[in-house]
Order: sequence, then C-alpha cells, then structure tokens
Amino acid sequence: LVQTKDTLRAPVICVLGHVDAGKTTILDNLRRTHVQDNEAGGITQQMGATNVPLDTIVERTKMSRKLISRQGDFMIPGLLIIDTPGHAIFQNLRSRGSSLCDLAILVVDIMNGLQAQTIESIRLLIDRQTPFIIALNKIDLLYGWKSNKEKDVESVLEEQDSFTQDHFEKRYDEIIVQFAKQGLNVALYYKNPNPNEYYSMVPTSARSGDGMGSLIAMIIETSQTNLAKHLSYTNELQATVMEVKAIHGLGTTIDVALINGCLSVGDKIIVGGQEGPIVTQIRRLLIPESNQELRDTNQYENKDKVMGTCVVKIAAKDLEKSLAGLPLFIARTHDEIDYFKNEIELILTTVLNSFKLKESGVYIQASTLGSLEAFLELLKIQKIPCSGVNIGPVHRKDVLRASTQLENDIKWATILAFDVKIERDAQDYAKTMGVKIFQNDEIYNLCSMFVAYQNQLIK
Ligand code: GTP
Ligand code: MG
Ligand code: NA
Repeated sequence: LVQTKDTLRAPVICVLGHVDAGKTTILDNLRRTHVQDNEAGGITQQMGATNVPLDTIVERTKMSRKLISRQGDFMIPGLLIIDTPGHAIFQNLRSRGSSLCDLAILVVDIMNGLQAQTIESIRLLIDRQTPFIIALNKIDLLYGWKSNKEKDVESVLEEQDSFTQDHFEKRYDEIIVQFAKQGLNVALYYKNPNPNEYYSMVPTSARSGDGMGSLIAMIIETSQTNLAKHLSYTNELQATVMEVKAIHGLGTTIDVALINGCLSVGDKIIVGGQEGPIVTQIRRLLIPESNQELRDTNQYENKDKVMGTCVVKIAAKDLEKSLAGLPLFIARTHDEIDYFKNEIELILTTVLNSFKLKESGVYIQASTLGSLEAFLELLKIQKIPCSGVNIGPVHRKDVLRASTQLENDIKWATILAFDVKIERDAQDYAKTMGVKIFQNDEIYNLCSMFVAYQNQLIK
C-alpha cells in the first residue's frame, strides 16, 4: 500500500513528563496561546487537545526544514496534540494519553533531569511500544544562554559561549547516564547514529522558543517516515469523550477526540452516562478554531461531517448526564444500539468497581472520570477514606447520599467538589442537613481544605 496525502490521517501526539517540565508551555509556544497562564495553580489537571493544522507546522519549522525529508510534499494533514498533567496522582490520564497516541513528546527539564513521572512516562511508552522524541526543555536557564529562535537549535548551540556549552554538556552527559539507567540509548537529534536504536533529544526552550522548530520538524519527520504505516485512515470508528461542558446556546455538549473513522450530523451515538448509557443523535459538529486548546476556546466552525483525526465538539439532546473518559460509539441498527450500550456499561462498571469505597468517609465529586480517579488516588495517599463518588454538578441527591455519613461522624458528611458546579437546591439542602461542601478548582486545595476542617473539628 502506497500512502498518499489523502490516506494519511493526522498523528496523535501526546505530551508527557514530570510536573512543571514545561509540557503546556511547549504547546503554548507552538500554538501561540496562553493556556498555562490561566491554569489553576499553574498545574494541568485535565487532558487537553488541540488540532494543529499543516500551515502552522510549515510556518513553525521554517528554520529546521532540513530535518524533514518530504518537505516539498508534506504527507500529513496536521497534528492532534494531547496535553497531560505531570502530577503524580494523574497517572491514569498519562496512561490514557499514551494509549491514544501514535507518537509522544517526552519533556525533560534540563536542570532537573529524569524525575519520578518522567520515568513513569518512559515505562508507559516502552510498554506500549510508542515511539517518542525527547524535548530537553528550559535551555534558556543555562549560564549565559543567548537565544535565537530564527535558527535551528543545532546552530544556536554552536554559537553559544564556551562556558554555556560546557554547562550544556554537563547537564546533557548526566541525562544520558540517567536514560541509560532506564535501559535507553539517547542522542542529540543531529548526532543520532540510528533512529531505530537511539531516541532523539531536542534541546528546547518553551519560554524563548529556541528549538521549537527542530522539535516539530522531528515529529513531522518521524510521523511521515517510521509511522506512516500506522496512520492510515480507516472507517472503523475510534473516538473518546474527553470532556462534558455546558455551552451557552448549545446546552450540554461533549468534546470528543476522533482518532479514526468519521462522524456526521444525524448519526446515532452512544456514550456513557451517570445513570446508564445515553443514546442520542448528533445535532451539530463543531471544530474548535485551529491551534486553540479545546479546554479554552469558544470559537468553532460548523461541519456536517468530520473525519479522524481531530477533536470535535458534539451538540445533541440528553447529554446533560454524559461522562467524560469513555468511548463513543455509532449505532446503525437496533442490535448495535443494544450491543454498544452493553459495551459502555461493562467498561464503566469495571472502572467504578476498581474504586475502593469505604463505609465511612468523605463524598467526592469531579468533572470527569479521569479527575475522579486522580482525586481518589490523592485521598488514598493522604489516608482520607471515601464513601461515595459522583461525576458532574452537585445535586440534592448527592447531598442526601453524603448526609448518611452524619450517623458515622460529622466530619465525613462532607462533599469535596472538584471543578464542578453546586446546584442551588443542593446548597440549600446541605445547610439544612448539616452537610459541609468544599468547592475548588485544584484537587490539592480541596484536600488541604478538608484537613484544615478536620483539625478545626477536633479543637
Ligand atoms: P504540569 O502540567 O502541571 O505537569 O506542568 P507542565 O509540564 O505543563 O509545565 P508548565 O508548562 O506548567 O510550566 C511550568 C513552569 O515552567 C511555568 O512557570 C513555565 O513558565 C516554566 N517553563 C516552561 N518552559 C520553560 C522554559 O523553557 N524555560 C523556562 N525558564 N521556564 C519554563
Ligand atoms: Mg501542563
Ligand atoms: Na505546571
């Protein structure tokens, strides 16, 4: 099979690495956005997704074009980039991101080298045999670094003062040893003797923009050569619900990563829901503006039909109770509806059964299945037991469920609400019942708030 421009889909690129290595900032630099500035506490707590079109790639790789062998005839239509959190408790999202992607960017802070979640990410990638390129980020922090983002970073490095180069070599040598301890051979991208044996490293600065062109060029080159055979467009639908969001004028919508296959207005879809699978019909398909983080944008283009690979917002009836983090299916017959309803039910039951809930403990609520899993992970570390969970806004019935804890201990009659709304009647009902609700957009804050409350109760 000879791949042509028309049969290659956009590769899914996942950005992985330790907390604060600069994953989101790298994407901001590529997209020319400011997502990181607006994150609560400067930390990523959700999976992000961005459609990066070919023209952006062409423009951003100007200085590093020699790295791309088919630059006269770019084969891929663009990239779908997935951002993941680096905090330890989000292992589930790193795992999901790495399972969705064709190729990863592993971001390493050049000053810190390999850290706990860098190593965890390496293991995920090796286990899934996912190729990756290493960004050695924050090179602007090297002594006396002189930035020049108009040139390929190979020549920018060459032009540094010798003490800057020494500092680079020192950090770089240490990092090579750290990778070797993980059983990996790594080499600078312009010195890589054999890309099948050595992982390429690209020095970058997300802050100054140095090396960004080389990094993207390496991603394109790898996608168009080594990966091409995996990037065929097929009709088999592969789609995941990333987020559920109420949008003014559209009602509750779902954001979907469409990896393969196609979606059309009018298609009958099946998605997971808080009270069982939801069957509905696509009313509108909306593509977020290019280079905008799906989490952040409110500009969309209407489509009748979309093909993988991209992120797309779906507007349809009855999505209010849908759950993020589960697959989306299309059914063409009655039998298929039943089949996929079962399928979703099975996946959800498996996830929920894996949660270890206790007789007594707090009640937690989060915006997505992914953040709920991470939240439980954090509570486990902090040794705070959890008796009940839910996804989506806090309703009166959640308060009712939490209030059953009043018999055990007043402190457990608490709802910790992450990144979700609290319905008015739930608020009032909580007051009447004596259920405490903490609401915050940072998981770590919620835990500290609860710990402080617990201590206050003891006094
Ligand atoms: P999490 O998603 O929370 O794991 O973090 P992250 O890996 O996305 O890192 P983020 O983009 O939030 O950056 C963390 C901090 O490092 C921010 O203050 C950034 O401004 C800073 N930073 C990122 N890249 C660079 C860089 O190349 N140079 C310097 N000096 N700072 C950087
Ligand atoms: Mg981030
Ligand atoms: Na961060």
